Amino acid sequence: MHFIYDIPTKVYFGKDLLQNNLSKEIKKYSDKVLLVYGKSSIKKMGLYDKVIEELKKGKIEVFELSGIDPNPRVTDVNKGVQICRENDIKAVLAVGGGSSIDCAKFIGAGYYYDSDAWDLIIYPEKVTNSLPIFSVLTLAATGSEMDPNAVISNITTNEKIGGTHRCLYPKVSFLDPTNTFTVSEYQTACGSADIISHLIEQYFSPYEDLELLDNIIEGLLKTVIKYTPIALENPKDYTARANLMWTSSLALNGLVEGSKIQAWSCHPLEHQLSAFYDITHGLGLAILTPRWMRFCIKNPENISRFKRFAINVFDISENQSDIEIAEKGIQKLEEFFFETCKLNKTLSEIGIDDRDFEEMAERITGGKVFDTCYEKMTKNDIISIYKACL
Ligand code: NZQ
Ligand code: ZN
Repeated sequence: MHFIYDIPTKVYFGKDLLQNNLSKEIKKYSDKVLLVYGKSSIKKMGLYDKVIEELKKGKIEVFELSGIDPNPRVTDVNKGVQICRENDIKAVLAVGGGSSIDCAKFIGAGYYYDSDAWDLIIYPEKVTNSLPIFSVLTLAATGSEMDPNAVISNITTNEKIGGTHRCLYPKVSFLDPTNTFTVSEYQTACGSADIISHLIEQYFSPYEDLELLDNIIEGLLKTVIKYTPIALENPKDYTARANLMWTSSLALNGLVEGSKIQAWSCHPLEHQLSAFYDITHGLGLAILTPRWMRFCIKNPENISRFKRFAINVFDISENQSDIEIAEKGIQKLEEFFFETCKLNKTLSEIGIDDRDFEEMAERITGGKVFDTCYEKMTKNDIISIYKACL
């Protein structure tokens, strides 16, 4: 058990901390900024005006790249790089959810790369440097606000690829829970499903690590399970939104990773779904995760881990067989996703059939067994997990 814990992102957490601090932080690097944001939410909620006013006050010249799609496109990354180069902009500010932040990250890295940014996304080891990235988070979900990852889609090739590089950590992130008050029920639910999945991907790991980290993950999972229904019921509940927001960051900022090598299982399967059908990331994860769990518990060696999950996260009674306890934990997770969060339970309900499963599974396995995950999967295993989602 040995690891380096070094997160270079400064976080301002709380209400109205943007004022004076945003300009002050950006000014350390540049007096011009590229503002990257999505379609309409930040204007509707009044955050756009607040950000512009703050940047004006700080005498920072603002250039804009708007309309970033959920599942952000490499075409927007390339556009952003071009704007930065043409105007000698030396800082990128994302205001939005994971999609705007991820797009900003590869704009920052793409600035220092002479060819199509898609190259960098496929081969993040080619990243050499990045413009400083700043974020004002508006949706608790991905953890992008405090991690070195970014996921970009290429619509022409049906590819969605995640890249990781130390240069991609935001320099400063502003986490104001009130900026998530306007997030819809659906996006709140999908965001919570994403946070839960990040925690599960690290909890069900083939690598032994500190017991402490398992305990933290269980606490974070319980926090999401407790506060999601409260945020769904009352979107302006500050305590609920604050708990979800900070959990999203802690789930993926390395805190619970310790010395575990990343061995994720459901995310690679979900990224294929989003790549082929452009679905919401968290929804895909909610549909896949319980089916993947049932695949895992076919191996008796995995049952004790699922038993611990069921007891410690969902308080399942220990007064029954191990496999019953494990199965009840999975049922509780399903209840959370499909009843509490009201997310669609099957791929069929969202118009997906089995026609692409073969190709999607092939892209994951590349003709081999997919073994950089918790329970290794053959191509046929992956197809059967997708089919169980129909
Ligand atoms: O486009 P706008 O109008 O801004 O609306 C967005 C979008 O439609 C809306 N929204 C965001 N904040 C809002 C709001 N609506 C009302 N009020 C607010 N305060 O929500 C919709 C989804 O936004 P998006 O940014 O796409 O969501 P999310 O944060 O879930 O990001 C998803 C992307 O991040 C990737 C996913 O694959 C996906 O591409 N991921 C990034 C990761 C990372 N960087 O570490 C890890 C994750 O596993 C994930 O893969
Ligand atoms: Zn995710």
